[in-house]
Amino acid sequence: MRTLVLNPDASGIGQAAECICQDGLVAFPTETVYGLGANALSASAVARVFEIKGRPRFDPTIVHVAHPETVNTLWKSIPPLAEKLLDLFWPGPLTLVLPKHKTVPDIVTAGLPTVAVRMPSHPVALRLIEASGRPIAAPSANKFGRSSPTHHDHVLSDLDGQVDVILAAGPSAVGIESTVLSLAEDPPRLLRPGGTALEVLREIVPDLRVDSPVGPSSSPGTLPRHYLPRTPLFLLEEETPSGRGAYIDRRRCGMLAFARQWQAFGRVEVLSETGDLRQAAARFFASLRVLDAAELSAIVAEPVPEEGLGLAIADRLRRASSGRARLAGDRIWMIR
Ligand code: TXA
Ligand code: MG
Repeated sequence: MRTLVLNPDASGIGQAAECICQDGLVAFPTETVYGLGANALSASAVARVFEIKGRPRFDPTIVHVAHPETVNTLWKSIPPLAEKLLDLFWPGPLTLVLPKHKTVPDIVTAGLPTVAVRMPSHPVALRLIEASGRPIAAPSANKFGRSSPTHHDHVLSDLDGQVDVILAAGPSAVGIESTVLSLAEDPPRLLRPGGTALEVLREIVPDLRVDSPVGPSSSPGTLPRHYLPRTPLFLLEEETPSGRGAYIDRRRCGMLAFARQWQAFGRVEVLSETGDLRQAAARFFASLRVLDAAELSAIVAEPVPEEGLGLAIADRLRRASSGRARLAGDRIWMIR
């Protein structure tokens, strides 16, 4: 199968929308990461998304809308808190989970009685959904378990020949997936930290719960191991981690640095020279891909401050890691 790579101009968006209407698959840009989109109201189109991604059927997808009013056709009812959050945060990187309307196919929600919905702010995403005249179900446009794509080149390298259309719109500005918040529970629960900072959400939802382990029961897709690079990644720690480990030469390692310039590594990617967490989020997945492609024996990641978007970055780092590490002169001590 040939994948059409289209410019996101009026004609490209028109063709992509046509493809969605015929139950085809379109990879499209959002402000967070690229999505692998299908007509959310067509079970067979969404089934192809699961197939191509290699995604287990227990992991539900997010439905994308171009207008807040569309939630009336997706959710059973809209509680006042949902209204308020939509008003304040849409369009943008916030996904809300509420009991679903029966028109939403079960495959979209992995059989759950709830559906996750968000209105992205990327103009191309909005135009595509609008032109399709349907809500679009879309997980991130990568193979299951791998890094999310923040550039159309990433989508091409993962899904060329498998997706019908790619709308090529360059880098995603936020760079980390949306925050997922469940309003189906009382008090509401954070299911995944993401592009909308927790501190900001707490101002509106003071009783927001983040305590419980984010696991299969609450949000099936938030597995402890995810985003796995091919090169094993280790989280750098101050203290010597305990357990069985091995030394490795620093030059054979890549360094995913937050703000510092590190010496004597095989390759260094700095997320933000000025220590800006937004910039770090925007560069995160692309930097991870660069290091993963550099034929190194391991990647070492410097911790990021767990505030603002740093919480989401730290969460992705934990899921991407195979173990912990500590500096030991020109070598690194690594523990799986
Ligand atoms: O920024 C984003 O959210 C990107 C762009 C493309 O919109 N999408 C994305 O989708 O990251 P995905 O499929 O990679 O992650 C969706 C997350 C998963 O953790 C899934 O378990 C959770 O949302 N989710 C979806 N529907 C849910 C539901 N009904 N209840 C609980 N969690 C749900
Ligand atoms: Mg994903």
